[in-house]
Amino acid sequence: MKDQKELTFKLISAIETYPVRHPVLRAGKPLSSCEFSGDNLKTTFHIGAYQNNQLIGVASLLQVKNTSILNVFAYQLRGMAIANEHQGKGLGKKIINYAETILKEKGVLLLWMNARVSAIPFYTKCGYTKSGSIFDIQKVGPHVVMFKKLN
Ligand SMILES: CC(C)(COP(=O)(O)OP(=O)(O)OC[C@H]1O[C@@H](n2cnc3c(N)ncnc32)[C@H](O)[C@@H]1OP(=O)(O)O)[C@@H](O)C(=O)NCCC(=O)NCCS
Repeated sequence: MKDQKELTFKLISAIETYPVRHPVLRAGKPLSSCEFSGDNLKTTFHIGAYQNNQLIGVASLLQVKNTSILNVFAYQLRGMAIANEHQGKGLGKKIINYAETILKEKGVLLLWMNARVSAIPFYTKCGYTKSGSIFDIQKVGPHVVMFKKLN
């Protein structure tokens, strides 16, 4: 019998993230709101987590320095989303670990993100530290920069 919990990670295109990116991060907004600048750059990559061939989690990694933290080879995490019914089961942490492994292989020294305030406890559990104060991203809500040194 097939393992009902079989989980695989794949590198996917930006548009392939939309079935999770849209309902989780841009609910009620037009599909076009799912497009992030830099989504299709050569240096950008997108992770898809699949359970029995169904996409249940996504994350996008963009090569963007954050000189206010450290002026080093850095990536930004964007579009981190787990399908609503799969949240709180450890999948987000697994995707972050997978992303960090790929980034370390590339020699990336810093991973940072604009964390939704509601996601601060999650990123803290994943070993990320807050930097600076809370700011508002228009139409999305309050955020804070968080980061982790890699390698
Ligand atoms: C935030 C999100 C990516 C986290 O993924 P997840 O799969 O639900 O989280 P996990 O189950 O991997 O949690 C990992 C750890 O963080 C903790 N955690 C996660 N969310 C938490 C919360 N809101 N409050 C407190 N702890 C939390 C878990 O308890 C777990 O702790 P443990 O390692 O001690 O067991 C996911 O819930 C999500 O997509 N939320 C909606 C979209 C969103 O906010 N994305 C982030 C935008 S910046």
